[in-house]
Amino acid sequence: MPASCQLPRIIGHRGAALAAPENTLEGLREARRQGARWVEVDAKLTADGHVILLHDDLLDRTTSGQGPAAQASLTAIRALDAGAWFGPAFAGAKVPTLEETVKELLALGLNCNFEIKPCPGREQVTAERVMRELQRLWPAHGPTGTEKPLISSFAYAALKVAHQIAPEFPRAVLVEEVPEDWPALCEGVAAVALNPWHKTLTAAGTRAIKSAGYRVFSYTLNETARARELFDWGVDGVFSDAPGALIDALDG
Ligand code: G3P
Ligand code: MG
Repeated sequence: MPASCQLPRIIGHRGAALAAPENTLEGLREARRQGARWVEVDAKLTADGHVILLHDDLLDRTTSGQGPAAQASLTAIRALDAGAWFGPAFAGAKVPTLEETVKELLALGLNCNFEIKPCPGREQVTAERVMRELQRLWPAHGPTGTEKPLISSFAYAALKVAHQIAPEFPRAVLVEEVPEDWPALCEGVAAVALNPWHKTLTAAGTRAIKSAGYRVFSYTLNETARARELFDWGVDGVFSDAPGALIDALDG
């Protein structure tokens, strides 16, 4: 039976990605301002092995830089603007390191789902660096008590490494569609949750996963009616780019 996992029903996606640039400290602050208690962010490695927050393999969409993040040093990435693309009010925002992120989360009183988002071929080393950093940085008593951040990934090899070297951090298996072998996948990394894309999730699928004792956290949705439907099925939580609107409508 998987361990418990106390995430709230509404989790800020990439911070609060509709109102502030994703995966930035500004986004974490906006999520907190909207009333979120947990956020999700994406973690990957620079060329020189530092953990940063970035969703895409390329720098192009969310920074002033270009090309693969896996080929850029931390110094080069830190020189980029990660906010101007979103809006002039956010010009000057930086790509945060994991260390800066944890410091900001603790200051804001937020807990976090760190999604390990490795560039292709870097699954194991990314997981190792993320977990070693979290073991070093996350306090025994954090913003939600002794509960550790949730670790998730679409990269199963990354979850395997996270399980091996940092079993004390709960894990969730991310999937676009619930596969036939989902019980084996969850068991293989002692996951607490299965996190499917909401567009492929069904009421029956949710029931089956819940019956096996796992939590279900589904991504990414911003519509109140859809969130209500998923909660009626038994989904435990949803990732939203607009957490405040859902919290106000459903948890207010
Ligand atoms: O972890 C939920 C969600 O973030 C997964 O998809 O592409 O937004 O990282 P993506
Ligand atoms: Mg993500």
